[in-house]
Order: sequence, then structure tokens, then C-alpha cells
Amino acid sequence: MSWKLASCLIAVVAILFITACQSDENLEFKRYYSSGALVYQQHCQNCHGAGGEGLSALIPPLSDSIYLRKNLTALPCYIKNGLKGSITIKGKTFEDVMPANDLSPVEIAQVLTYIGNSFDNKLSTIDEQSVQKNLASCH
Ligand code: HEC
Repeated sequence: MSWKLASCLIAVVAILFITACQSDENLEFKRYYSSGALVYQQHCQNCHGAGGEGLSALIPPLSDSIYLRKNLTALPCYIKNGLKGSITIKGKTFEDVMPANDLSPVEIAQVLTYIGNSFDNKLSTIDEQSVQKNLASCH
């Protein structure tokens, strides 16, 4: 076998490998996202709205990707333990209370992947391991 042919084959194998990995990631994202949509409908939509638009001055919208990005590691704690106190979302102040939830870490990861990639947000997949890690440091 010539070197040219050999290196060509290696390149082809490498490309196949990379695309296989990418579609694995893609598949993981789709699983998290579609399960997250159901968690959202059941546990969040009543307050935050089907389009994540929130409710007037009471419930903040979920479309402030700067806030989400800034508080990424704390979000699992907010979902699990609830949130209170004054926060600013898209330039507006909110002071109502979000109740605690008994969602499992995987459900929290799913719903965060869903809101993180809906309502004009573009975060990556938020997986169960990172949620578990972040839940361990809630205070
Ligand atoms: C009973 C109404 C209610 C429910 C149900 C609820 N939230 Fe909230 N959520 C709130 C309120 C009120 C705040 C603002 C709390 C504050 O001012 O400190 C908030 C804040 C947030 C925030 C941070 C601020 C923002 O707008 O980005 C996120 C993220 C969030 N909620 C996600 C969720 C998710 C995900 C669920 C479902 C698992 C959920 N919420 C369920 C009322 C609710």
C-alpha cells in the first residue's frame, strides 16, 4: 500500500470518527432538550409562560441569556431550592418568590438545557454530572 493511500485512509477514518462523536453529542443534546420541554411544561410554564416571556412585573422572563450565562453554576440550586430576593432581568427588577422543586438532578439538567436553548438563548447541553456537581455547592 502506498503512503499516499495509507494517509488518505487515515484521514477518512479520522473524519468518520469525528462525525460519529459529533452526532453522539447531538443526540445527547436532543434527548436532554426534548425531555426538558416536558419538564418545563409540567413545572415551569404556569409561571414563566410557554414562550418564557414571564408575567408582567411578577415573574421574570427566561430570555435574558446574560443573566443565565452569569449564573450558570448557580441555576441548578435556584431550581431545586427556589429563589427569592431582588434580581434584575433584562433591565427590570423582580422581587417575587420562586418556590423550591423536588426535581431530580437529571430533570434539572434537562429543563436547563431546554431553557438554555429556547427563547433566543444559546447555551450548550447542561448535563447531569455538572448539575450534580453544582448542587453540591448550593448555599
Ligand atoms: C410559582 C411560579 C414559578 C414557578 C413554578 C417557577 N418559577 Fe422560576 N421564577 C419565579 C420567580 C418569581 C422568579 C424570580 C425570583 C426573584 O425575584 O428572586 C423566578 C426566577 C427564575 C430564574 C432566574 C431569573 C430568570 O428569569 O432567568 C430562572 C432561571 C427560573 N426561574 C427558572 C425556572 C424553571 C426552570 C422552573 C421550572 C422547573 C421555574 N422557574 C418554575 C417563579 C416561578
